[in-house]
Amino acid sequence: MKLITKVKKLEGKKVLLRTDFNVPLGENGIISGDEAVRIERSLETIKFLKKEKAKVIIISHIGRDGNDSLRPIAEYLSKKIKLTFLKGHIQDFVHEHIEAMKPGDIVMLENLRQDEGEATNNSSFARGLSRLADIYVNDAFAVSHRRHASIVGVPKFLPSYSGILLDEEVAHLSKAIKKPKKPFLFILGGAKFETKLPLIKKYLKIADIVFVGGALQNNFFKADGKEIGKSLVDTKRYNLGSLIKTKKVILPKDVLVRDGESIRTVSVEEVSKNDTIVDIGPDSVKDLIEKIQTSKTVLWNGPLGLYEQGFTASTEAVAKALSKSKAMSIVGGGDTVVTIKKLKLEKKIGFVSTGGGAMLEYLEKGKLPGIEALQ
Ligand code: 3PG
Repeated sequence: MKLITKVKKLEGKKVLLRTDFNVPLGENGIISGDEAVRIERSLETIKFLKKEKAKVIIISHIGRDGNDSLRPIAEYLSKKIKLTFLKGHIQDFVHEHIEAMKPGDIVMLENLRQDEGEATNNSSFARGLSRLADIYVNDAFAVSHRRHASIVGVPKFLPSYSGILLDEEVAHLSKAIKKPKKPFLFILGGAKFETKLPLIKKYLKIADIVFVGGALQNNFFKADGKEIGKSLVDTKRYNLGSLIKTKKVILPKDVLVRDGESIRTVSVEEVSKNDTIVDIGPDSVKDLIEKIQTSKTVLWNGPLGLYEQGFTASTEAVAKALSKSKAMSIVGGGDTVVTIKKLKLEKKIGFVSTGGGAMLEYLEKGKLPGIEALQ
């Protein structure tokens, strides 16, 4: 993987820059600063290319199904750097506009997923995109786990490089996989048990402690015969016997539960049929903070409570503890990153990854299709 900053003579070159601007669009398409981490973090590569007088063609996706437009993102970004939004991808008018660009100009194309060739990795779509430019740069770590046309297709047709953000992500995350300083604490929260179970198994071999919170913990409680009431749980059957027994996996010992209007803290043995577990409890937070204080590496992905429903207390407490710890800390995943940004702790965390699914897949496999396509 060669970094774009190592390339000489970019002046006048058309550079197709793949970014990941998949951020939540708030009401009326307004983007909140706390949720715009991916946009902010892509600026370094964009500014570098502009300074080198390349002609920058930004491409990205937003949303799953291609229904959304990238226009609100272009408007947000244009407050930071001058650019023109083009409502298309490989049509003639896009080519004409690009041909008229001057060195240092920037354009952003429409949501790639509006063309079905993107998600199906259609080779004519990839070829079409490649015809727009002289060079391809992937700075979209967060979507590099997808075998999409703009990720794995285009590099077949153009000299291809990594952007500054992609390079940083790989450098920091590979350190956590290869040579983490011990004691190493891995904190995993959120939902999607099926995706995260292989990661728990893998990190049992690398980390000293794996703390499991969020909805993930409920699968463990259930497998251990505990009552979880109406809590969110993955209903597939998993054989967790040996994982429950190992002392390396730590689960919360108390939780916050909701039953109608009432919210109370109980031990995990006291959860009843009508309860929904909404967060981990204060004793568990205290224990986890103590573990953070004695660790030299902490890797964290996923909130510990039902974040989107406002149960953010434990996630925020852990973020604060991490910002004060001397451990090398690496944090990723949508809500976790929003918490860090909201509390203005970015500078006090070792590395904040822009990846959600991509971070998890990279940590599990040590590679991603988009990175391999650059090699
Ligand atoms: C993400 O938000 O994780 C990336 O942008 C990938 O999006 P996707 O899960 O819709 O492919």
